[in-house]
Amino acid sequence: MYQSPRGTQDILPEDTVVWRHVEHHAEATARRFGYAEIRTPTFEETGLFERGVGEGTDIVDKEIYRLQRKESGADLALRPEATASIVRAYLQHGMASRPQPVKLFSLITAFRYDRPQAGRYREFRQFDIEAIGDEDPLIDAEVIGVLWRFLEELGLRDLTIQLNSIGDPVCRPEYVKALVAYYEPHEAELCADCRRRLHTSPLRLLDCKKPGCQPLADNAPRTIDFLCKPCEEHFSALQGYLEVMGLPYELTPRLVRGLDYYTRTVFEVVPPKTGSQAAIGGGGRYDGLAEILGGKPTPGVGFAAGMDRIILNMREQGCSLPTADVPDVFFAPLGDQAKLVAARLAEEARRDGLAVVVGTGDRSMRARMRQAGQSGARFAVILGNDELREQRATVKNLAGGEQQAVPFADLTTFLAPTVRHSDVEQEAAL
Ligand code: HAM
Repeated sequence: MYQSPRGTQDILPEDTVVWRHVEHHAEATARRFGYAEIRTPTFEETGLFERGVGEGTDIVDKEIYRLQRKESGADLALRPEATASIVRAYLQHGMASRPQPVKLFSLITAFRYDRPQAGRYREFRQFDIEAIGDEDPLIDAEVIGVLWRFLEELGLRDLTIQLNSIGDPVCRPEYVKALVAYYEPHEAELCADCRRRLHTSPLRLLDCKKPGCQPLADNAPRTIDFLCKPCEEHFSALQGYLEVMGLPYELTPRLVRGLDYYTRTVFEVVPPKTGSQAAIGGGGRYDGLAEILGGKPTPGVGFAAGMDRIILNMREQGCSLPTADVPDVFFAPLGDQAKLVAARLAEEARRDGLAVVVGTGDRSMRARMRQAGQSGARFAVILGNDELREQRATVKNLAGGEQQAVPFADLTTFLAPTVRHSDVEQEAAL
């Protein structure tokens, strides 16, 4: 028997209701902040990620899914994230001529060949937003605000916003020099990954999770002590905005993130139970990315939230989740003649906007009613021998048990208001 590939998940009907709830909320939150939806391809030229996300990052060096198409020779890869693609689309479609910043959101499936474990998959979903074309720190604050509002309104609690600034091409070289100088005398104490990174991407040493490397990282020079004046002013203005917006952040000097395109602001949101896979969302500013991709210098800032991890955390924290979709009405016909009547009446009820399931197969009325109960419907329309003879259906409230005879001709006009009235009663009872 085939199984789903390692690191992927089947999302079953009882779970898709939860996913839809979270996705709708993502979209509604983005719209409230003035973001419009963009959809980009699932695969792109590999070079877009190599240049955008950066060679030397784990995502590009170890985790890219390359697509082999012998005949075309094109070097394509499944997207490991959304930002590079969205900035590519911004440049390709001349969005610089639109009012700036261009504010976009996307709900994507992303792919990374990583070691699967709880909350870490090879195929996963992200809610991504990008504000391109403005370097005002107010937009950084707003982007963090979208993420915070989204998570808070899902009912997640005790989250922390970790915040740092990693400078820009003016001040970062000084910082990197100081960082390498700090680490070099300790090279022998570092793990193999860090020894390699010391000469390729030294910033990454700061978020090494190996116990042996932790004390060194704790005492390493801090990016914020090396910021040039414009970066420092940007960072302090950002903090001012976060404070007036009531967004609780913690300065986290070791936060550097795993993608190369960041400048200045970086942030992550972590749930209370921390671990190496803890971040449920992260992002930052990428003022150099458009230029790296061949466009004019264009500032940008955004985040991606990991939807799979958000749902895991919502379950762990006992957040309220929607339950499975249930039909409004279950038609319970007995015999072939009744099935014909059911097919006709059910269609009329659907035309009226009701969610209707008709019992199929040959079953006794007892088995039919069991089917009705299992369907979760609130009303059953019973069509047995007596009902056919009298041309009146028995409408039964499956929760309360009370029932009523309704002439076939009146069924549609009877059902819709009855179902809606019971909706209102149910909500009032909650
Ligand atoms: P990222 O930190 O690589 O950033 O990913 C964002 C979020 O996606 C993570 O915080 C995590 O919740 C989720 N995630 C990442 N990898 C996995 C995985 N293997 N399995 C499950 N969830 C995962 C980015 O992707 C940037 N593009 C964010 C950004 C947008 N920066 C600026 N704009």
